[in-house]
Amino acid sequence: MDSIQELEFTSGNPDRPPYTESQALDPLGVDRFMQILPDLTRSGQLDVILNKLRFITENFDQSNCASIPHCFAALRDFDFLITSAHVLGANSYKGIQRLQEILEVLGRLTDHNPRGCNFTYGLFNPEDDRMRTFTGLNEERIFIHAIQKGTKGLDDSLLTLKRLSMVRVDSRDFEYLTDEITIQFAPMLPAVVEVLRKITPEVFSRQIVRFFVPLDINGKTYPGITGAQIQNVCIDLIVYGANSYSEQYYSYAARSLASMLPFQQSITRQILQQLQQTSLLNKIERDIALCENIDSAQAITSLNSLQRFLRKILRFRWAHRRLAQKNLPLRKKELGSGGYALDLLDDLIQITRIASLRIDQVKADLSIRNGG
Ligand code: HEM
Repeated sequence: MDSIQELEFTSGNPDRPPYTESQALDPLGVDRFMQILPDLTRSGQLDVILNKLRFITENFDQSNCASIPHCFAALRDFDFLITSAHVLGANSYKGIQRLQEILEVLGRLTDHNPRGCNFTYGLFNPEDDRMRTFTGLNEERIFIHAIQKGTKGLDDSLLTLKRLSMVRVDSRDFEYLTDEITIQFAPMLPAVVEVLRKITPEVFSRQIVRFFVPLDINGKTYPGITGAQIQNVCIDLIVYGANSYSEQYYSYAARSLASMLPFQQSITRQILQQLQQTSLLNKIERDIALCENIDSAQAITSLNSLQRFLRKILRFRWAHRRLAQKNLPLRKKELGSGGYALDLLDDLIQITRIASLRIDQVKADLSIRNGG
């Protein structure tokens, strides 16, 4: 994988993800069981969890997947049960007949991996006392709330990027839309700071993250919950990532994009088509080089806005790197749940900084053209 043209997108349903509808649903009838799941796991009662899974599977019928929101809610709840069972007894869920087939059907209907992910753990998870957790710890609730608060505006930021890809850099609209996306991204920083302040690395890396594991479903391995499954990967790709950077970046982007929901994949594909398979930054550079009648003053103001957005991403990434740096040494292998090490986070910081430096260069060229 060394270019954007090789990235694969699903052709799935481009509707906005039904987070709120799924949060309210309990298609497997496990609301009460979910309250005791952490205790069952802590006391090693694998049989009780497997019996529950067997009961749900035997009684699973069409009404459990009556709509897409039902299917996402079912994937969410299966994932808590299956992963808890797997942590107590590796692959123990595989002994339950029809379970993996049901997961594959749910995966097909939602155009998603046949298991849960960062979205089913975060935005599809009820926010009140029906919240599903693996451990029942207050720290895990804080973590889930942080993901929910941080990522809530990120689908909107993709829609803003779509509008941004259609306007000229020397327009007021470009400046306003870039300010809007900065606001939509902003909650990511306090989300990470809250986790830094309130969750010790011991609790996160020893007690919570052990549930963020890959699962094998009918012979194929699917990744567990990871921050790599957050819309940031789409934002990077659209704004500057579509220019060839490191091999590691492209393989991370391709893998993470495959875990995005159909909506995010569809919007990203549409934007890249609009940009003719290049990044927004490339398009800006090309437009400015080719266009005679640029309003340089407005273009520079717009580019300042774009740099403010990049600074916001960088501030998130620096704080988040601190979080990873404190946590990873506590793990058997110094890796995140997505299988990446600190150097991936450094790569992402680096490409964000390079993008900002390129904007400095564009602004300098514009000033020269403007005679100043
Ligand atoms: C103690 C808590 C955390 C640790 C140790 C951690 C660690 C990591 C690691 C190692 C990665 C690389 C991918 C992987 O291997 O999984 C990653 C990616 C990521 N994480 Fe976290 N993370 C934590 C909390 C959070 C929180 C609270 C958020 C946001 C609300 C977040 C957002 C992201 C994002 C967006 C990425 C993709 C890389 C990027 O865009 O910079 N993480 N995380």
